[in-house]
Amino acid sequence: MANFFTNLFRGGGLSQQSQSVLGIDIGSSSIKIVQISRKNGHAVLETYGELALGPYAGKGIGEATNLSPEKLVEALKDMLKEKEVNITSKLCGIAIPFASSLMAVIEMPVMPQKQLAEMIPLEARKYIPVPISEVALDWYIIPKDKNPEAPGVGMSGIAPVTTLPKLEVLVVALHNDTIIRYKDMVQKTELEASFFEIEIFSTMRSILDNEINPILIIDMGATSTKIYIVERGILRSSHMINRGSQNITDELSKSLGISVTDAEFLKREKGLEGEINGIKTKEVITFTLNYIFSEANHVVLAYQKKYNKNVSQVVLVGGGSALKGVLDVAKTNFQIEVIAGNPFEKVVAPAFLENVLKETGPEFAVAVGVALRRLQEQD
Ligand SMILES: Nc1ncnc2c1ncn2[C@@H]1O[C@H](COP(=O)(O)OP(=O)(O)OP(=O)(O)O)[C@@H](O)[C@H]1O
Ligand SMILES: [Mg+2]
Repeated sequence: MANFFTNLFRGGGLSQQSQSVLGIDIGSSSIKIVQISRKNGHAVLETYGELALGPYAGKGIGEATNLSPEKLVEALKDMLKEKEVNITSKLCGIAIPFASSLMAVIEMPVMPQKQLAEMIPLEARKYIPVPISEVALDWYIIPKDKNPEAPGVGMSGIAPVTTLPKLEVLVVALHNDTIIRYKDMVQKTELEASFFEIEIFSTMRSILDNEINPILIIDMGATSTKIYIVERGILRSSHMINRGSQNITDELSKSLGISVTDAEFLKREKGLEGEINGIKTKEVITFTLNYIFSEANHVVLAYQKKYNKNVSQVVLVGGGSALKGVLDVAKTNFQIEVIAGNPFEKVVAPAFLENVLKETGPEFAVAVGVALRRLQEQD
C-alpha cells in the first residue's frame, strides 16, 4: 500500500534540533519552495522562494504551463541554485498535483481489517477509470462521527434497526506513471525526496489546527481552482473547478484592451480596485470569481444536505487568493466566515518578514505543508 497521507497530524516527541529540509510544490504556473529546520523545538523558516514557469514555455509570469519533464528538471535546478533564495538542503518532500490523483469516498460493510484490505481495491475499481494494476492505492477509514445527526442515525442518537453499519473509506490513487515521472525528476536534480504527497494533504497540514466543524478550503491556482471540505482533520470531499486566476488576467486583457502582461500586472497591483478607461476591474473580475464561488457553493450545499452539518468557515489559499478585495467577494457569496490561510503561522520567522509572509502566505500553503511533514520525519 502506498503512503500518501497516513501521517497527517502526527504529533508529540518532537526533537529540539534538526537538519534543514525542503518542501517543494511544482504548480502549473510556478515552483514554490520552502526551507525549514527545527530549532529549540520550533519549526523555523530559513528561506523560501518562487520561480515562474511561464518563461520556460515562452509564456508570461503567472501563466500556466504544461512543461516536459526535461524542462521541469531545468527549472527545478535553476530554483535550487538561485543565489537569492540560497537553498542549502537536499532533503525534501514533493507535492503532487491534485489533478494527477483520483479520490473517492466509498462505503464498505463493516468487516475485519484484513478482509477490508482485500475488498477495498476491488470496490475501488468502480471509481478508478484505469486498471487497478496501473495505480498505487492508499485508503483511510473515516472514523465514525459521534454526532447524533450523522446519517443513518436518528435524531435520538439511536440507529434505526434497518440500517446496516457501514464504513466510509477515503480511497486515493496515483497513476504509476506519475510516480515514475517524479522519481526521475528527483534523481536528475539530485534531491533526496522521502515522499510524494498529493497537495491537498500538504495544505491541510499547514492550514488547519484541529478544527472540528467542516471547513471549505479553496486553492485558487492559475488555470484551476481546487476545493475541498475537511472535517475533524479528514478530507471528506474534493473537486476541481476549471477556472483560475489566469482566466481573470485573460478577461482583463480582453475587456480593457490591454496586453496580457499589462493585465497580469494590473491584476496583481490593483486587484478589484483598479480602473482603466472608465472600466472598473471589479466588474470584470467578479464575473470569474462569482463563477468559481458559486460552483464551490454547490459543493458546500450538497455536503450540508448529505451530512446535515454546516460548513463553518472558508479558507482561501493559492496565488489567486492574493488578489486584493477577493475576501469581500467571497464573503458575499458564502455568507459564512471567510479567511485568508496563513501557512507561515506554523513556522517561526523573523519579525521583519511578518507582513510580507501574510501577503504571500496563501501561495505557499502546499510547500509549507510538505516541509512540515519532512521535518516530522527528522524526529
Ligand atoms: N498578488 C496577486 N494578485 C492576484 N493574483 C495573483 C497574485 N499573485 C499571484 N497571482 C496569481 O495566482 C496564480 C498562480 O497561483 P498559484 O501559484 O497558486 O498557482 P499554481 O500553484 O502554479 O497553479 P496550480 O496549483 O493550479 O497548478 C497566477 O495566475 C497569478 O497571476
Ligand atoms: Mg498550486
